[in-house]
Amino acid sequence: MKKTVQTFQQMKEKHKKISMVTAYDYTTAKIVDEADIDGILVGDSLGMVCLGHENTLQVTMEDMIHHAKAVSKGTRNALLVVDMPFMSYQTSAYDAVVNAGRLVQEGHAEAIKMEGGEEIIDQIKACVKAQIPVMGHLGLTPQSIHSLGGYKIQGKTLHACQKMNYDAALLEEAGVFAIVLECIPTELAQMISEKLSVPTIGIGAGVHCDGQILVFHDMFGLYSEMSPSFVKMYENSGSLMKTKIQQYIQDVQKGSFPTKEHSFPMDSSLLTQMQSDHWEASKGEK
Ligand code: KIV
Repeated sequence: MKKTVQTFQQMKEKHKKISMVTAYDYTTAKIVDEADIDGILVGDSLGMVCLGHENTLQVTMEDMIHHAKAVSKGTRNALLVVDMPFMSYQTSAYDAVVNAGRLVQEGHAEAIKMEGGEEIIDQIKACVKAQIPVMGHLGLTPQSIHSLGGYKIQGKTLHACQKMNYDAALLEEAGVFAIVLECIPTELAQMISEKLSVPTIGIGAGVHCDGQILVFHDMFGLYSEMSPSFVKMYENSGSLMKTKIQQYIQDVQKGSFPTKEHSFPMDSSLLTQMQSDHWEASKGEK
């Protein structure tokens, strides 16, 4: 069944937990979609896990569109959300609508995600007015890494908690259909989730959020540069892949790959003809 922003709302109302995962290419999107995930996020985390950048700040609109297009081809039922990259919306409401529109038209996004609270409220309202569903993102917002001073748990002071609570209410009022809460205390996420009528999607925000999201590469041990404590690795596929590649290298070196099963024999009469041509040619060379 096709999942939409309305499905997310209904799931919140029925107290059914929403599951989301990131994907950055066709093959992965197809796997997670066929597993019946509710939502796929083409996160700007692709800058780190796919492009090898140190953080998400260098990700461009072109990067997002390129990956979103591929993911959309593998997505049939999940709601497809695409991240707005750094500086594609912070500058103005106009830029936000133009760039969100590009993610929909060129990347086939069904919704977009922006990081921040009160400071981007005009941008959120403008996109909602343009009929583009918006997912908010509060708490640890990686595009603000330099002003936050690193990847740290957020909501550690009364003022920070009050501000997040306030921002969450503002975002809901502005028309977001869901809000990602990243790396904040469980109780704060619970208070926000209970107060809002739109669903919260947690990552490092405890069990009381209306849904959860994980980065695909973290789930499968494919990205070792950073592994936050809130990540659950479901399988260490990265290490398994490394072992299998080493096995392949040995097979190639020993000549045990390819075998007959992986090779194509020549038709016997063609072979005889080729061998006699080869014989005649080598006689001529002498
Ligand atoms: O970019 C991303 O992958 C994200 C998730 C961690 C929520 O924003």
